[in-house]
Formats: sequence, structure tokens, C-alpha cells
Amino acid sequence: MALVSAKDMIDKAHAGHYAIPAFNTNNLEWTKAILLGIEAQKSPAIIQVSEGATKYMGGYKAVADLVNDLYNSLGITVPVALHLDHGTFEGAKKCLEAGFTSVMFDGSHFDFEENKEKSKEIIELAHSKGASVECEVGGIGGTEDGVTSSGELANPAECKEISDLGVDFLAAGIGNIHGPYPENWAGLNFERLDEIDKAVNGKPLVLHGGSGIPFDQVHKAVTLGVSKVNINTELQLEFTAAVRKYFEAKKDLEGKGYDPRKVLKPGVDAIQAKVEELCKAFGSANQA
Ligand code: G3H
Ligand code: ZN
Repeated sequence: MALVSAKDMIDKAHAGHYAIPAFNTNNLEWTKAILLGIEAQKSPAIIQVSEGATKYMGGYKAVADLVNDLYNSLGITVPVALHLDHGTFEGAKKCLEAGFTSVMFDGSHFDFEENKEKSKEIIELAHSKGASVECEVGGIGGTEDGVTSSGELANPAECKEISDLGVDFLAAGIGNIHGPYPENWAGLNFERLDEIDKAVNGKPLVLHGGSGIPFDQVHKAVTLGVSKVNINTELQLEFTAAVRKYFEAKKDLEGKGYDPRKVLKPGVDAIQAKVEELCKAFGSANQA
């Protein structure tokens, strides 16, 4: 099997009232842990990469080849899409040329008309290549790839205009934040989400900043149109906590404990465990 567009899996999730997990990858080990986790849970999923992580991993073609090759060499059978996360206009075009099966164009920092115009172009290009496409209205709070936004509540009328361009799924700011949530976080704005869900008339919605959102809020968001939940920070925290324990236990000083495959293994196992937990929590387990 090959990597697929995310459209069918997200449409199925929308109809079945569960969410597709979209896990950000950062390297080979991350990719392997995500693939093994979703296969173990028989969960369709999206492996996504930011432009910063793409650069770190050696470029769009390197990422596409890595994910494709691991998908095949590990004998993965569940549907997987390879998605560019928070893509710029140029990045979105480059990832499609490199063979990504899905792309986000994040034009939320432009004025609305420019966001709409650029979104239209990427939607047409992505669909001409059989790829799925995500756009964004209303900046998500927090910092992602060095870009910080205070976070806005998306305007339902603007969401409808972008939705009507034919985007496959739409990210909308509803009080969600990239990275850790502050103690005094007000929670997701379900009133606004309900307005957006009604305005886009059943277009699947995307919840960014999924790390740390209580599952009951995720489940409620799914009832209001959310069908893709993005997770990055949570996997990073799981990985670092596990590797820290390895060093605190001075395992690196035992025998050949300095072998990077031994050093990274606790972290990789922790990522896989968290991936499996989230597939179950989002309802995508056994949906492949
Ligand atoms: O685009 C990436 C996601 O929105 C990740 O957010 O790091 O808060 O899970 P997170
Ligand atoms: Zn995001």
C-alpha cells in the first residue's frame, strides 16, 4: 500500500463521530514510533511535519521518502496520509511536488482576502495532484516553528467563505493554543465552534494544539464537527521524560549504554505508548 490523501479517512471520521489523530514527526525514530503505534491500534492517522521539522529532517523529498519507505519496510497496513503542517504558500507547493499526500496552507496571518486568494490557489493545486488540503481561519495561539500568535476566535462567516472554496478540512481558532496550556486557560470556546460548525455546513474541522486538551473537551468538539486533532508537544514531553529517566538512572554508563539506539529507545517506546493511548481516546482505534 502507499500513503493516501487524508480526505476519505477524515470524512469517515466526521460521519462516524470520532477524530483522526495527526501526529507531528521530528525524525526517523518519531516516524517509526507513530507508525508502529497506529498499526497496533488499527487506527488511520496523519503523519504531519512542520516546515521547521522538514528543514531539520533534510527537506520535503527526504521526509516523503523516509515516511514512504518506513511505511513499507515496517509492513504498515492502516491508511496513513503525509501532511505538511502550517505550510507557507511556497512550502505548500514544494511539499506537493515532493509527493506529500496532504497539505495545510496556513494563511491566517494574512488579511482575509489574501488568505482566501492564496487558499484557493493551493486548494486547486492540491486537488489536481489528488492530495487533500487544510486551510486556517483565525490564528491559533502559542508558538509553532518560531511563529507566535495570541490566538483569535475564528469568524464563522470567514470560515464559510474558505470552506466554500472546496477545502477538505478547516482549522479554526476557538481558544486553542499550541504548546502547554496555562493553568488559567478558559477552555475551548464551544459556542464559537458551534457557530462555525453550522456556518461550514458539515465541513470537517481541525483542532490544533491538541496536546493537553482534556479528553472530554475533545469529545465535545467532535460532536461539533472536529474530525482531526493535532498532537506535537505531548509526544515531545513523553520522549524527553523517558530519556531523562535513562540518564538519571545512569543507564548510559552501563555496558554499551552509550549506544544511541539504547539511549533513544525509552523515548521511542514512550511516543508509541502515547500514540496508542490517543488513538483510543480519539475513537480512531480499530477504524482502519
Ligand atoms: O500544528 C501542530 C499542532 O497544532 C500541535 O499542537 O504541540 O499543542 O499538540 P500541540
Ligand atoms: Zn497547529
